Amino acid sequence: MGKNMEAKYRTLYDAKKNELEILREKSVNSIWKPAFHIHPQFGLLNDPNGLSYYNGEFHVFYQWFPFDATHGMKHWAHVKSKDLVNWERLPVALVPVEDYESHGAYSGASFEVDGKLYLYYTGNIKYGGEERSANQCLAIMDLDGTIVKYENNPIIEGVPEGYTGHVRDPKVFRKNGRYYMLLGAQRSDLTGANIVYESADAVNWSFKGELKLELDLPDSVYMFECPDFFELNGHDVLIVSPQGLKAEGHDYHNIYNVIYVLGKLDIDSLTFEVQYYQELEKGFDFYAPQTFSGKNNERLLFSWAGMGEVEYPSDKESWAHCLSIPRELTIEKDRLLQNPAQEMKQLRLNSVGAELILEKEFVEFDNASNRYELEIEINPEDNELFGLELFASESEGLLLQFDSSHNTVSLNREKFAAAFGSEFGFVRCASLVIGDAVKVQVFVDASIAEIFINNGEVVFTARVFPKENSTGIRVFSAGKLTCNYKKHELAQ
Ligand code: FRU
Repeated sequence: MGKNMEAKYRTLYDAKKNELEILREKSVNSIWKPAFHIHPQFGLLNDPNGLSYYNGEFHVFYQWFPFDATHGMKHWAHVKSKDLVNWERLPVALVPVEDYESHGAYSGASFEVDGKLYLYYTGNIKYGGEERSANQCLAIMDLDGTIVKYENNPIIEGVPEGYTGHVRDPKVFRKNGRYYMLLGAQRSDLTGANIVYESADAVNWSFKGELKLELDLPDSVYMFECPDFFELNGHDVLIVSPQGLKAEGHDYHNIYNVIYVLGKLDIDSLTFEVQYYQELEKGFDFYAPQTFSGKNNERLLFSWAGMGEVEYPSDKESWAHCLSIPRELTIEKDRLLQNPAQEMKQLRLNSVGAELILEKEFVEFDNASNRYELEIEINPEDNELFGLELFASESEGLLLQFDSSHNTVSLNREKFAAAFGSEFGFVRCASLVIGDAVKVQVFVDASIAEIFINNGEVVFTARVFPKENSTGIRVFSAGKLTCNYKKHELAQ
């Protein structure tokens, strides 16, 4: 292997003297580090893994490459929380030192079995060139938090006949007394699919087959990553990250995108009868989400608030990405809605609010820091174009614009000195029927905004890298408009 490859495929244990301290130092004063979003101290974070509420605590693991803001040898980093908002960093959960995970402990999910938390993950194997394989592996966390890799790993060696080495991201669930493992896969003809294994004891698995899923996706889809499956309000829900989609109307404008599918799964025939599917999020930085069951059995989701193949301004500081805030999923009128988890309210400190009547082009609220939650209801009256500007200053601003003549909402992140990702476009757009009022809830945290519109009907996640004084919040419109707002400062 070349020198660069070797540097990329080192584990934490191969760190040189002071290397980690130097990395930590490089970003410790970054103005872009979030406060209440799970993020790496240094290195690159990607997918959330092993999400669970277990033994009275929330556990979040995430894909982590320690040595730079690039994709390399993936470890599972680990944080936990009692309240879903204050997180404690724990020692790295999985360091890929074994032959069966020679090129990384890739993504996976967890499932509680006999009082222990089973962590399923993919042992990534690379040979020279494009050649690769994958093993499915298990690690077990017990009640006192000790994590041990299963002694007879891998639990599934290699990939089944008919698929390439791209088989990964196990999600385990139980149905009719048996365990099922859903995996992302690539067929030998280089198209994407999901495959299923089954087991009576959650340890010994046999290949059951491919999930039959009739979606009208183009043949260009070459891989399905990070499948997630759950039941909610009488629906079966599949969330998956297909690679190779092409932009279509307002959909699929990121290089990689996420869809959700509502329907009915018949596990015996492996048929997922599709009732409806749609892109899950409309922002720039949302991929590989995973869900789990919260304290009250509500369905919670965390996502990677990042995107592959895009260079981020924080890369220069040797850290990259964060997770989304936890979101609660519900189904209303046969659509999946995403809203901030109830627990996020615990972060609220001082709240200010008022009703505003806008007479001129814009009003700006008093706001000095990019860490807040904003709830705002806008009554546009007769204005066709109106909206919000966040991270605003003379030269910068993230623009959320509603257009009632076209029934759309768009988000533009071009106006920043550190604008990035131009090759993938600066604007994302969604259809939205704009009635008499629109409701917007926003979480802003240093370099991320998560925007929930009309109770989670449209959601945008956007990373932006503002100057320190770009903290303004403006409401704008061509003419008179009224709005009601509440701004909460957030703790941490
Ligand atoms: C999705 C993904 C997964 C894989 C992991 C590797 O972002 O490509 O399919 O397991 O990241 O870090």
